[in-house]
Amino acid sequence: MRADLNVPLDGDKITDDGRVRASVPTIKALADAGARVIVTAHLGRPKGAPDPKFSLAPAAARLGELLGAEVALANDLVGESAKAVVEALTDGGVVMLENVRFDARETSKDDAERAALADELAAFADAFVSDGFGVVHRKQASVYDVAQKLPAYVGGLVDAELGVLRKLTDDLERPYVVVLGGAKVSDKLGVIANLLSKVDKLLIGGGMAYTFLKAQGHEVGTSLLQEDQLDQVRGFLAEAEKRGVELVLVDVLVTAEFGNVEHDVVGTDAIPADKMGLDIGPKSRELFASKLADAKTVFWNGPMGVFEIETYAGGTRAVAEALVKSDAFTVVGGGDSAAAVRALGLPEDGFSHISTGGGASLEFLEGKELPGISVFAKNEGDR
Ligand code: 3PG
Repeated sequence: MRADLNVPLDGDKITDDGRVRASVPTIKALADAGARVIVTAHLGRPKGAPDPKFSLAPAAARLGELLGAEVALANDLVGESAKAVVEALTDGGVVMLENVRFDARETSKDDAERAALADELAAFADAFVSDGFGVVHRKQASVYDVAQKLPAYVGGLVDAELGVLRKLTDDLERPYVVVLGGAKVSDKLGVIANLLSKVDKLLIGGGMAYTFLKAQGHEVGTSLLQEDQLDQVRGFLAEAEKRGVELVLVDVLVTAEFGNVEHDVVGTDAIPADKMGLDIGPKSRELFASKLADAKTVFWNGPMGVFEIETYAGGTRAVAEALVKSDAFTVVGGGDSAAAVRALGLPEDGFSHISTGGGASLEFLEGKELPGISVFAKNEGDR
């Protein structure tokens, strides 16, 4: 089974175990049915060779705690240790192989290289279950190629995630409000282009908001700015105006140096040249909350500010609280915003769905083909 156990770590401590918890139901269902479950997963972006910093050991330990049974972790992917661990598996047991990205073939652009690794992985098993939703947008050996080597099945998590995201594309109740944040506007260009024709309101905060403000003609001081995206963002602004899509941001919290808790609240038209914005301001928070209040469907991806620092967590908290209060169908997409919800202590059941996929859910909403899903269409007859 391919899972997404790419959890944030502080040293060897997991700071948010959401993805491990989300992987448990399918693993447990397979184990309870008597299967011998071999879990593959990645952690971080190692450079195609073993690197202890990216070991899956913390994820294996947490998975074992959640399953109430030890999960042995091989110290390689398809080598002697993996063979021994798989050999020792008994019915209903669960083991893990070490980080798939310790093998350069996993992420290779060369089909034959990926296929060779997929063959070695497939040799361990009788069937493949794809349940790493967060990674289905990657054409990688353990996600895509292995699904062509074995009878392959979509796991419960991937199935549930797709069901929710389809509601955002096929079966939408309006008003539909999308809240986007996070640092990089370039990561979100595709989704913004696609969403402008679908949303009623687009609320933009986080680091990417400053590129929007600059494109609107405001000075943004030393705030995060992606100059090379300005033309495209100007195009989005024009398109939003033409379509009557509202974009709102009125004030921000600014400070002289990143991380400094001393700050001022200024209007978006008055950001001083020597200061940077690190969160949306109180008027913006209220405005965002009011725009969310009558929504029937909301998708939120990306924090509104540097929520890891309490002083700049207010914008992200305000959006999260507005969603918890709302009766709308609310979907939190992605690593950082999902982690923010949990780090800020908001109830997970206050949202209709918290996705385990960041890039994967954005690419789905962009309308892109997800290789880890489309591969199933190729394998006719498989589920
Ligand atoms: C994620 O964190 O979004 C997934 O685990 C995919 O990781 P990647 O962006 O390194 O492929």
